[in-house]
Amino acid sequence: MTATATTAGSSGLAVATRALHKRYGPRVALAGLDLSVPNGVVYGFLGPNGAGKTTTMRLLTGLIHADSGTIELLGRPFGQGDRRRLFEVGALIEAPAFYPFLSGRENLRALAATGAPTPWSRVDELLEVVGLTERARDRVSTYSLGMKQRLGIAAALLSDPKLLLLDEPANGLDPAGIVAMRDTLRNLASAGKTVFVSSHILGEVRQLADIVGIIAQGRLVREGPIEELLTSRGRVRVRVKQDEVGAALARLEGGGFRAVQGSTSDDGWLSVAVEGDRASEINRSLAQAGIYASALTAETDLESVFLELTGATPTGDGQRSFGSAGATTVAGQTSGQDPQ
Ligand SMILES: Nc1ncnc2c1ncn2[C@@H]1O[C@H](COP(=O)(O)OP(=O)(O)OP(=O)(O)O)[C@@H](O)[C@H]1O
Ligand SMILES: [Mg+2]
Repeated sequence: MTATATTAGSSGLAVATRALHKRYGPRVALAGLDLSVPNGVVYGFLGPNGAGKTTTMRLLTGLIHADSGTIELLGRPFGQGDRRRLFEVGALIEAPAFYPFLSGRENLRALAATGAPTPWSRVDELLEVVGLTERARDRVSTYSLGMKQRLGIAAALLSDPKLLLLDEPANGLDPAGIVAMRDTLRNLASAGKTVFVSSHILGEVRQLADIVGIIAQGRLVREGPIEELLTSRGRVRVRVKQDEVGAALARLEGGGFRAVQGSTSDDGWLSVAVEGDRASEINRSLAQAGIYASALTAETDLESVFLELTGATPTGDGQRSFGSAGATTVAGQTSGQDPQ
């Protein structure tokens, strides 16, 4: 991984973690996480529920401490007692807390008064950036979830940080709000800031990020420019009758396809991994052998990469479920579905 731009520091990276481990009691949340986030990019930190995204964010902001491993922020080591350095880092982690009886503007002013010296004009500027100018004088108790989320982003930007850490910032935003947020974050990256943003929604990250890091069960499973992850490797999922799975596999393999039996095949799903979009060829090949698929779905490339890497499998009704099949098993952690 090469950094697109460097600031002072050894690695030239905005965020670098090495062998980061974190347990909550017997449960392993991070099992040796290595992240390399270049400066000046939007980095999409992607993973299913329980993968360790929020834990990572908390470690990067000093809210909790790692059991072992190192963190470098903006090229310098970040350790216990380094909370003062957090003026360089803006963060929004889980639901932001505000005084409900104060307005959005008053909340930001109160925060500005406790942090690095900030001109009040910056408060109004940020309210504009996040699209809250019209509601700036209203009490936060009257804000919708999405408005509070936007106010949280404004708060994270108060100290004009070089690095912005946002944990699932699109939570609670409506489609228009998501588009607006995407524009805001892209503009921040264009202005030279690094935006590290977590999500479990693939489509969102795909439209937003330059670099993607995929995490599953506390480990990085893939990291790189988004276009590199969007390889020509496609995947077509075929649904055939349970008693025809064997014949379908044999037929496809005979036809030169790399066919893999899906992990949920007990309900008749057969996964077929193929190069590019060859769904119609697969359909024809099966039909010629008297096997009629009841469903055939071409998945987008990034989606198949994500599903494969995180061990998630589609269920028969087309919904995503995150099981442990094919994923690295982490001692003490049962699956990615732990209750939060
Ligand atoms: N305070 C805690 N006490 C015990 N276990 C925890 C705690 N916080 C997180 N965990 C566990 O650590 C693992 C990682 O959780 P984390 O919240 O970091 O995941 P996440 O990727 O942010 O998931 P989500 O997409 O659901 O927000 C999970 O197995 C979770 O159950
Ligand atoms: Mg989380």
